[in-house]
Amino acid sequence: MYKLEVRNTNKIFKKEGKEVFALKDANMQIEAGKFVSIIGPSGCGKSTLFNIIAGLLKPSTGKILLDGKDIVGKNGNVGYMLQKDLLLPWRTILENVILGLEMKGVSKKAAVNRAVPLMHKYGLGGFEHHYPDELSGGMRQRAALMRTLLYDQDIILLDEPFGALDAQTRLLMQTWLLQIWTDFKKTILFVTHDIDEAIYLSDEIYVLSPRPGRIKEKVTVPLARPRNENTLLDQAFITLKKHLFELLKDEGDGLNKAN
Ligand SMILES: Nc1ncnc2c1ncn2[C@@H]1O[C@H](COP(=O)(O)OP(=O)(O)O)[C@@H](O)[C@H]1O
Ligand SMILES: [Mg+2]
Repeated sequence: MYKLEVRNTNKIFKKEGKEVFALKDANMQIEAGKFVSIIGPSGCGKSTLFNIIAGLLKPSTGKILLDGKDIVGKNGNVGYMLQKDLLLPWRTILENVILGLEMKGVSKKAAVNRAVPLMHKYGLGGFEHHYPDELSGGMRQRAALMRTLLYDQDIILLDEPFGALDAQTRLLMQTWLLQIWTDFKKTILFVTHDIDEAIYLSDEIYVLSPRPGRIKEKVTVPLARPRNENTLLDQAFITLKKHLFELLKDEGDGLNKAN
């Protein structure tokens, strides 16, 4: 059985009498423990797809199966870091990290006992009592990811988590994320519009067409793990990069825009 299945899922938004077809016949089969990316131009429906999987939006038609059970319209089954997921500025980093645990009813003491060693292990040690605006962008994203991780679901959805970071920080964060993924054995769904990032991180990549988002192709990444900077120079990396570039180039120039 697949960990997650998206079956014949469509989404049409109705706005001021007009219809926007955001997602068309999406089908995905995700195996447990995989790292799967979704790439496609801005506005093609990537965040919409995540909102549907997370149960925050209902699809117009179609199903979302988690461990074989339909979870359409039900939230709380996946960890979800939204595209503009902000830390609460009035809470310390530690208080932000334990937010998900607190929402699940875990006592503050138990949540802190769980979170502090993880913060130390994963590069946030010493920042527990700082406030978000005292941290760099990369550290803030670490904290937001740690919060999502501690929500304790098998699947984590990450919507362009590194989009606003500079190239050097981004590479550090990607390696950091791969370490977390290896240690915690989660299934990760990752949205990006960066081809290199998708290849570097993923086992599989779904390529979406411009709106209405339609799955154009699913590719398997033929690169061994663990990966490091040398992976970026591997011939298989470059070949796949060219292929994805061609797939996305057909589709106009939306690729480098934010969102
Ligand atoms: N709540 C909404 N109401 C109407 N249209 C929406 C809504 N949310 C998204 N859309 C439209 O659906 C399309 C896909 O949006 P989105 O999923 O955010 O794209 P992406 O994340 O790939 O950039 C866009 O044209 C967007 O304007
Ligand atoms: Mg988006």
